[in-house]
Amino acid sequence: MVLANILALSGSPRRGGNTDFMMDTFKKGAEEAGARVEVLRVADLDIKPCTHCDGCRETGECVIADDMGEIYEKLAKADGLILASPIYFGSVSAYIKAAIERFQIYWFINFGNEELRHLKAPGKRPAGFLAVGGMKNKKYCDSVRVTAEALFLNTRLTFSSFLCLQGYDEKGALEKDPEALQRAYREGRDFVSKNFQD
Ligand SMILES: Cc1cc2nc3c(=O)[nH]c(=O)nc-3n(C[C@H](O)[C@H](O)[C@H](O)COP(=O)(O)O)c2cc1C
Repeated sequence: MVLANILALSGSPRRGGNTDFMMDTFKKGAEEAGARVEVLRVADLDIKPCTHCDGCRETGECVIADDMGEIYEKLAKADGLILASPIYFGSVSAYIKAAIERFQIYWFINFGNEELRHLKAPGKRPAGFLAVGGMKNKKYCDSVRVTAEALFLNTRLTFSSFLCLQGYDEKGALEKDPEALQRAYREGRDFVSKNFQD
C-alpha cells in the first residue's frame, strides 16, 4: 500500500549532478518508508517566471501557457511536496525560482482574493526543501530557507523538512560522501514516517 504520493521538483540544470543525487537519495528514503515519489526536473521543462500581470487575481489560474500547468495538476493530487535546488549566488537556481514564482496563484487563492477561497490550493500538506552548495557559508543555507519559508507560507503547505548540504561543488562530489547521503536518505525516510505513518 502506498502511504503518500509526493511530488518532487529538482532544480539543477546539471543532469545527474549533486541536486539530482540528493533528491534521488531522499526519494529512496521516502520510498523505503512507504511513499511514492515522482521527480520532475524543472530545468527540462518550459517554465517561465511570473510576470506580475495579476491575471490570476480574478480566476486563481495562471495565464501563461507552459509546463507549469502539469505541476499545478500534479500538485493538486499530491499528498506532499519536495523541492531541491543547487545554491546559486547565495540563493536558489533560476529554474526552481521560476516555478516558485508561479505559485503566486495560490497567494490569490489563499490570501489575495476572498472570492477564490473555494478553489483548491495545496494547503496543510507537508513540504520540504533540499539544497546543495559548493561553499561552506551558513548564510547561503539561511537564504534558501527564507525562500522556502515564503513559498510554504504562501501555499499554506506545512514546512516539515529542510536539509542544506555544503562543500559539494564538483559533479559527483556528493555521491562520494556516504555520511551526506545518509542524511539525505534519513530526511526522506523521516519526512514520510513523521507525516504519513500512524
Ligand atoms: C551560477 C552558479 C552560482 C553558484 N553560486 C554558489 C553560491 O553562491 N554558493 C555556493 O555555495 N555554491 C555556489 N555554486 C556552486 C553550486 O552550488 C554547486 O556546484 C552545486 O553542487 C551544484 O549542484 P548541481 O551539481 O546539482 O548542479 C554556484 C554554481 C553556479 C553554476
